[in-house]
Amino acid sequence: MSNLLKDYSGKKILVTGHTGFKGAWLARILVLAGADVYGLALEADTNSLFDVAGDLGFKESMILDIRNRAGIEKYFAAHNFDGVFHLAAQPLVRRSYKEPIETFDTNVMGTAHVLNAIVTNKSSKWVVAITTDKVYRNVEKLEGYIEDDSLGGKDPYSASKAATEMVVSAWQTIASQLQDKISICAARAGNVIGGGDTAEDRLIPDLIRGFHAGTKTIIRNPDSIRPWQHVLDPLNGYLTMGSALMAGKNISPAYNFGPGEESKLTVEQMAHYACAQWDGSQGIDIQVSDSALHEAGLLWLSSELATKELGWSNRFEAQEAIRWTIEWEKESMKSSPLSALDAQINKYYGVQS
Ligand SMILES: NC(=O)c1ccc[n+]([C@@H]2O[C@H](COP(=O)([O-])OP(=O)(O)OC[C@H]3O[C@@H](n4cnc5c(N)ncnc54)[C@H](O)[C@@H]3O)[C@@H](O)[C@H]2O)c1
Repeated sequence: MSNLLKDYSGKKILVTGHTGFKGAWLARILVLAGADVYGLALEADTNSLFDVAGDLGFKESMILDIRNRAGIEKYFAAHNFDGVFHLAAQPLVRRSYKEPIETFDTNVMGTAHVLNAIVTNKSSKWVVAITTDKVYRNVEKLEGYIEDDSLGGKDPYSASKAATEMVVSAWQTIASQLQDKISICAARAGNVIGGGDTAEDRLIPDLIRGFHAGTKTIIRNPDSIRPWQHVLDPLNGYLTMGSALMAGKNISPAYNFGPGEESKLTVEQMAHYACAQWDGSQGIDIQVSDSALHEAGLLWLSSELATKELGWSNRFEAQEAIRWTIEWEKESMKSSPLSALDAQINKYYGVQS
């Protein structure tokens, strides 16, 4: 087992948002590392990774809405963790236009409820709060946003996540004044791909649904360049932050975890690459976006700080990320989603199975 994973062996860790895509992957890594893993989230969506994977090995899976302040207070008053990864959120830009108030309630006040309950009950030694690359004010910066750049956000999701960062910052200050300090840090990464993502309006899940149904997939914004990243890479960043906090290191309040320059590909390039990986015969229909909804243009992250201070680096370039995603899908059909998860986690961390 890698040294990073060994740090989590025997530790009591909470993952909020464990019924979601990233949360399920993260929780399973922690379970394989030998941690006692707890989860707190809403019910899983039907056919989501959590739903289809079966028993991921949680000590306790709690279904609780983070907008419910009293419920969150009660939960943290009754639990004591070595560390918390806070992922629970409404993460979809397009849904945030339809449900802006719910998005702000969950992402901003939900995070405030979680952090306040942890700090007042001293329920954890550290928290890694997951936000996004969309927290930066988009000024079409080419060389990559750094952690000190201005925050902002035009669409409701981005704005709510920038506001989440303000919440994190306020509770960093509150927590630093405690006698036994609680460290709270933010982790910023962009859109990820990986096996088991069933989110609506995302390119790879849309393509995979089309592959299974044997239908062509319509893609939006074919010429848009995106920073493609495999889910395991930012998760490895979050785990590296948690491990540094566990070791009592004085780390920065926020880190970016983005892919390298070679991962800047267009939506159309990625779609063709995914089709070729699937079986080469599947077609895609390309359609220019019919949507007037504003979605941030390319937001490129500089991850130099994470490399310098945490020794983190992104491992997979875009094409490898898509290869792993399609391989996961095939393996999951051949064996099961859980074995596909375990096989890729073990491969990533160099564990012989
Ligand atoms: N997937 C990506 O590409 C991506 C990119 C950047 C940032 N993020 C961030 O990573 C985190 C996880 O994203 P994901 O893609 O796994 O999302 P997801 O939609 O798959 O999962 C979201 C999780 O949050 C939980 N949740 C939502 N509202 C809640 C509420 N009110 N109370 C309790 N739990 C609630 C859900 O039950 C689910 O477990 C989010 O904070 C998201 O903003 C994701």
